[in-house]
Amino acid sequence: LSNGLALTPPMGFNYWNFDGCETNLINETMMMNTAYAMSTNGMARVGYEYVNLDDCWMAKSRDENGNLLPDPIRFPSGIKHLADYIHSLGLKFGIYGDIGTTTCKGYPGSENYLEQDAKTFAEWGVDFVKMDGCNMQVEDMKEAYTDLGKYLQATGRPMVYSCSWPTYAYVENITMPFDYIEGICNLWREFQDIRDDFTEWTQILDEMEDSLPKRSQFAGPSHFNDPDMLEIGNGLESNIEYKSMISLWSIIAAPLIAGNDILTMSKETLEILINEEVIQVNQDPLGLQGNRVYQNQGLEVYQRTLINDSYAIAMFNRGDVQSDITITSDMLNLTNHQNFNIRDLWSHTDNGTFSDTFTASVEPHGTIMIKLSPKINNIYLPLKYRKHL
Ligand code: GLA
Repeated sequence: LSNGLALTPPMGFNYWNFDGCETNLINETMMMNTAYAMSTNGMARVGYEYVNLDDCWMAKSRDENGNLLPDPIRFPSGIKHLADYIHSLGLKFGIYGDIGTTTCKGYPGSENYLEQDAKTFAEWGVDFVKMDGCNMQVEDMKEAYTDLGKYLQATGRPMVYSCSWPTYAYVENITMPFDYIEGICNLWREFQDIRDDFTEWTQILDEMEDSLPKRSQFAGPSHFNDPDMLEIGNGLESNIEYKSMISLWSIIAAPLIAGNDILTMSKETLEILINEEVIQVNQDPLGLQGNRVYQNQGLEVYQRTLINDSYAIAMFNRGDVQSDITITSDMLNLTNHQNFNIRDLWSHTDNGTFSDTFTASVEPHGTIMIKLSPKINNIYLPLKYRKHL
């Protein structure tokens, strides 16, 4: 969707993955404290920007004029108040709705209220709309998502538009017109809901890689595939697995929406979330989605083309034993075959020169993530100059 927004994959926070509406954690205090924490703990500095609601923020029914209302216990000061506070911190505010009759958790849906809800969102100061697709026929989604997009646009307020249509088409095995959704949404959920489980998110990764049509061709500035929000720090996986997750999500130009409790996370979780060298890959201005370029018995290589003739490479070991992974220039798609500096994006060290091969020993479920940058005239260029290349 060419609305000048989401030129790189959106980054932010959403409570769904750690809360799921089941507890009473969701309320305006939690949202405000989270926004404040993000503005001071380094997250905002590295690009986490959107502070987003998910399901269960609404009252059970609309007001007498059909307007959406917040849950009066959870959000007694109203949504505009929350949005204003988040804006005062220099951050942006996102909301959740559903294109069908009700949300997945049974709160009011926007069917028959698309224009009214778009206006409400704009009045409240919403910057990001996640529009879910529970309780609507997939056949009706093309029209509904298109219409809502027009109404959002008509408000004049810039709002990132996240659509869930492909997820529901996928579940029902209905063909999805990706070249169409690319033009009406900034991002679109693709597959089933993620869980804090290595097998589960690697399955989503496989679906992203192996599904036809090839998904990466539809990604670019202002239009990205969305394999779902992060699970980093939710406790059921190791930090090695969480590092793999953010590495691979960065290679595939996925939105980085933290899905953990920002207020109680460990230092290690925060460090994984704010690794700037990995985030730079995610936020590369070309907005090209990388792909898997090699796989053999659980050892995999992913490549993303970056600006300045550089490449991000993830060497991912899905298996249960420490293993060597080798990348070769034949395996990679290099437009210019030359010597590259090898930068390790997790150890933050330079690691020699790549001309034809590079081998690293990768721990089980771990990822070595490197960036290959051309060496000018084969002279080593110190880090501080490299960004100008
Ligand atoms: C769907 C979405 C999730 C979440 C829930 C809320 O399952 O895919 O991301 O928003 O609805 O009910």
